[in-house]
Amino acid sequence: MPTKAPEDRYDAAPFVPEDAGLDVLRRAAAECRGCPLHRAATRTVFGTGSTEARVMLVGEQPGDQEDRQGRPFVGPAGKLLDRALAEAGIDPSGAYVTNAVKHFKFTQAEPGKRRIHKAPSLREMTACGPWLAAELALVEPELIVILGATAGKALLGSSFRVSQVRGTVLEEEIHGRPERLVPTVHPSAVLRADDRESA
Ligand code: URA
Ligand code: SF4
Repeated sequence: MPTKAPEDRYDAAPFVPEDAGLDVLRRAAAECRGCPLHRAATRTVFGTGSTEARVMLVGEQPGDQEDRQGRPFVGPAGKLLDRALAEAGIDPSGAYVTNAVKHFKFTQAEPGKRRIHKAPSLREMTACGPWLAAELALVEPELIVILGATAGKALLGSSFRVSQVRGTVLEEEIHGRPERLVPTVHPSAVLRADDRESA
């Protein structure tokens, strides 16, 4: 049987510098070719916030606006997230915000048409995991807030179901470190809900 060519292997690890600070990590992530998602997307959207943050929020992947602006949660889901944080009494500057997957995955009927979000595959989430592992090692948050099913699957495995664990505190080993995690629904799911206010 032929061995797999390197381009068939999805993995960010060869691009992740060791013992790097946040700026070096972010610059390295801008050059990541660890999976095919970098090809159609505009840029890598790395996490933002202080490495001193006590809370890390993990979303799914950048959306259209995030891909254009290069920062996580600056589009409609981000606006809702800011409101939820304010209501929960969490200062956004006290949180580090990132995504399980760092490039925008989308479908587009034809060039110039609207880009429609497409969920990343488990393979893409796994490929991008080394960036999240590096962020976790650097920030060492006291709490990880999992925003939705994709982030949950990326951190806790493919059997994760947000409806079963929503709002509970989980203690799990993630990328070799003991972490406390709180899963919640993704702000985009709230935006799609029939009754937005109660969601
Ligand atoms: N949704 C996400 O999961 N992440 C973003 O950065 C924006 C929208
Ligand atoms: Fe690299 Fe992640 Fe982008 Fe894939 S999605 S190219 S693994 S940064």
